[in-house]
Amino acid sequence: MPPKIALLASGRGSNVRAILSAIRDGRLRALPVCVLTNREDAAVIQIAREFDVPVEVVPHQDLSREAHDARVLDALSPYQPEWLVMAGYMRLVTPTLLKPFVGPLGYQVVNIHPSLLPAFPGVDAYRQAYEYGVKTTGVTVHLVDEQMDHGPILHQASFMVTPEMTLADVEATGLALEHQIYPEVLSALFAGAFERGARQGRPCIQRKVSPYAAC
Ligand code: GRF
Repeated sequence: MPPKIALLASGRGSNVRAILSAIRDGRLRALPVCVLTNREDAAVIQIAREFDVPVEVVPHQDLSREAHDARVLDALSPYQPEWLVMAGYMRLVTPTLLKPFVGPLGYQVVNIHPSLLPAFPGVDAYRQAYEYGVKTTGVTVHLVDEQMDHGPILHQASFMVTPEMTLADVEATGLALEHQIYPEVLSALFAGAFERGARQGRPCIQRKVSPYAAC
């Protein structure tokens, strides 16, 4: 059975579209049980409808982070998702939401961040990197933990920022890379391609070495 996933998003939803397209086209084996958003005007709602995926709107106004996460959990519970996939979900999540999703690799909650973490966490990361003057930037897919843009890294992909590139060019290049790698990394993750490992005595998550790698 493909894993049941809930997609969490707050806005435009282009990554949600990329993921739902990959599922529809057979490039990603997963069952999208719902799209949850904290914003009732989010464009992602229309995208979910296009793909016939149920939508849950859970506004966060006037709620503590924990209280909002408790409502999110309530809204998700009928769908019984095994993984949460965040794609432009502009909320810091708390242990209230994370703990029910604990699995062998950590929390079964995935995020994509538009920088090479740990550089440029937080909002507007393409702009942060561009304004800093970096010559290379990229995108990171990681498991989520209690800290912002921080959990174990699953995969990173980079691209050069050449002198003639504008911020809009950097954003467009990065977003196209996001749309390519997020479904690919999710596909590998759900196929069991990652395992816990250690580097210099510190825990990390790594790709399993294929038994056919030497052939
Ligand atoms: C993406 O750049 C994603 O990496 C970041 O927020 C943006 C969301 O874009 N976390 P979209 O809603 O998927 O179009």
